[in-house]
Amino acid sequence: MRIYDIILKKRNGFALTKDEINYFVHEYTKGNIPDYQAASLLMAIYFQTMNKEETANLTEAMMNSGDVLDLSRIHGIKVDKHSTGGVGDTTTLIVAPLVASCNVPVAKMSGRGLGHTGGTIDKLESIKGFHVELTNEQFIENVNQHKIAVIGQSANLAPADKKLYALRDVTATVDNLSLIASSIMSKKLAAGSNAIILDVKVGSGAFMKDLDSGIALAQEMVDIGHHMGRETVAILTSMEQPLGYAIGNSLEIEEAIQTLHGNGPEDLTELSTTIASYMVLLAKEAVDIDAARERVMKQLQSGEALNKFREFIEAQGGDPSVTIDASLLPKAAYTMEVLAPEDGFIQSIKTDDIGVAALVLGAGRENKDSQIDLAAGIIMKRKVGDHILKGEPYATLYTNKKDMMKKAQDIILNAISLTNVPVEKPKLIKAIVM
Ligand code: URA
Ligand code: CA
Repeated sequence: MRIYDIILKKRNGFALTKDEINYFVHEYTKGNIPDYQAASLLMAIYFQTMNKEETANLTEAMMNSGDVLDLSRIHGIKVDKHSTGGVGDTTTLIVAPLVASCNVPVAKMSGRGLGHTGGTIDKLESIKGFHVELTNEQFIENVNQHKIAVIGQSANLAPADKKLYALRDVTATVDNLSLIASSIMSKKLAAGSNAIILDVKVGSGAFMKDLDSGIALAQEMVDIGHHMGRETVAILTSMEQPLGYAIGNSLEIEEAIQTLHGNGPEDLTELSTTIASYMVLLAKEAVDIDAARERVMKQLQSGEALNKFREFIEAQGGDPSVTIDASLLPKAAYTMEVLAPEDGFIQSIKTDDIGVAALVLGAGRENKDSQIDLAAGIIMKRKVGDHILKGEPYATLYTNKKDMMKKAQDIILNAISLTNVPVEKPKLIKAIVM
């Protein structure tokens, strides 16, 4: 087989066979195909597209390029959850203990990642003593005993995707549905769960800016999941504004705890309980979605989900009293309110920019080696559709970098637009694809 022939075939609009796709992924990962030929093939795929079968075969090849986790020693049906990425998305921290309290095993391998804030792992590390360096043995034991454990991404998951994603990033070939769907799903499938819930974000703070393209991506990923024998459900949700109010690592932990106490923001509570309900359904801990939702709401309202969160923190060395005393979390040295320049209704929020403001304050990593400030971030004070008076706060900034506050303030002032006429509140859950 020759890579030249594979490039030519795709350039001319023909479908690639499973063998051809395997050959490309395998040889490229080993370093036997140069970047310029891989880039040519990616560009040919971008313009000619891939059919469902090619997309599934690409996913499978990338999944098999590294470790595929074996979770078979964990009892029960393992359901994983993935979000395509938003701003201030705290749901995993709520969903994980919530479903674990419904007897659904949560064996989560999480990343740190680059972004506006840290990943789930970073957020959890704002709890004193909490550690994510469990051995595989310990990890499995913790899930069997407590139904929940979170570890850092130690395994070599889908290295082919890592290499191809980096190449796509610099060759303008990221935004192709087959390539995005196979990239995400190869990693999810390698992580070893039996079923997958996808939270596909749509809007100004997301990869997919409108509902139609979000649904197309969701369908592509759900089809891949089914092709690989995994029950897969995608929930399309609005990223027209940050989720909840908190953006930042310890700030989001505090918000997650409030939500588990039953006092969380309405949108964050709605999304967390919806995702949890589908996880309970796919884990076969409820007969239908209504029964699943009823069970989830009961666990939240009775405090069982919060108890599970405490048990989980303790099992990984953290101090569970943080759930009743938020002052135990890291605190920023400086705070500042960003004030509305005039009266009006919040018309729109450029969510990406709010994320950038959080990053500027120190909540995220600009590159792999930058240090995260767990105390830094933003608490938003208004949602789209809310009314505000001149001089009332849009948001409060938290940082240890005093000189960055002005910059963050300017970004936020530019990101929010006001109008004199009432604005309809955006619907959070836009569609379900299954
Ligand atoms: N996230 C991924 O992991 N891969 C993509 O291609 C796009 C977003
Ligand atoms: Ca939030």
